[in-house]
Amino acid sequence: MTKNKEKTVLLTKDGIRHDGRKREDLREISFEVGVLDRADGSCLIQWGRNKILAAVYGPRELHPKHMQMPGQAYIRCEYRMATFSVPNRKSPAPKRREKEISKLLGEALNPALFTYLYPRSVIDVFIEVLQADGGTRCAAITAASLALADAGIPMKDLVTGVAAGNLSEKIVLDLDDVEDKEGLGDLPIAYLPNLEKVVLLQSDGIFTPNQYKEALDMLVPACKKIYQLQRKAITDKYSQINEAVQKDLEKESKEKSAKDKDSKTKDDKKDKKADDGKKSKASEKEEKKKKGLKKSSRKKDDKKQASKEKEAKKD
Ligand code: CDP
Repeated sequence: MTKNKEKTVLLTKDGIRHDGRKREDLREISFEVGVLDRADGSCLIQWGRNKILAAVYGPRELHPKHMQMPGQAYIRCEYRMATFSVPNRKSPAPKRREKEISKLLGEALNPALFTYLYPRSVIDVFIEVLQADGGTRCAAITAASLALADAGIPMKDLVTGVAAGNLSEKIVLDLDDVEDKEGLGDLPIAYLPNLEKVVLLQSDGIFTPNQYKEALDMLVPACKKIYQLQRKAITDKYSQINEAVQKDLEKESKEKSAKDKDSKTKDDKKDKKADDGKKSKASEKEEKKKKGLKKSSRKKDDKKQASKEKEAKKD
């Protein structure tokens, strides 16, 4: 006897999805920038139930040397899913899907960077999916671009990714795992929100030309919304650093002024002592001088007396 598995209602007549979202709603997104000490830049993204870590190393010299490009840096991207990231244990060996996603994420990040600034070098972008729940490539590229910014690599723009999907012939935003697997299709994009450029567009499943248009009309504003969150995450991190630096500087200047005050009082004491010494020496000298004068006047008097006595004797 086979049990009939209950099918999830992906979209109700009122346009409500299985997790309570409306068609154009995104899942909750949060970023933590600079989470890894050893990487040059890093970012942890939590997008719905997705948890993805991006780490950037470089720019650094590319080995093997035959892969070096004389006029630009090579963006080497590695997307991996942890064995525990999905309900069924995933084999740790990189699969075709991971290789494909690694390649396309690297290509989508490239237009956001001034790669010509770093000839013959490589910028490594490692992406680890710790927990997957649909839309990992979009979340991964969004986190990777923040990790690149955190590494201090000059960028033309941030890269923002999000997917639209076809649920029961209706276009919805940001599919989760259930919607991705049971829906009619998904359409992930990556976008440069300031330059207004699409740098990745994939399509899996069925979309009519009108549905394509509707999906893009939903995706672009969603990318702009996510971009604001990315900006906030990076500016928050750097305002925190600024505050810490400011506090350190204030502390330093306070310590310095306290030290200066201390050394000034010491110097004043020294000066006073020296002055006192000089004064006592001067008064000693004065006394000596006075004594000397007295002596010499006494001598003069004696001489005068003697000459007077002599003259008296002569008379
Ligand atoms: O994650 P994304 O939507 O970018 O890529 P996908 O290939 O369309 O995969 C959709 C979802 O399937 C992933 O987010 C995972 O939740 C799930 N998946 C899985 O359960 N097992 C795998 N080996 C690969 C993906």
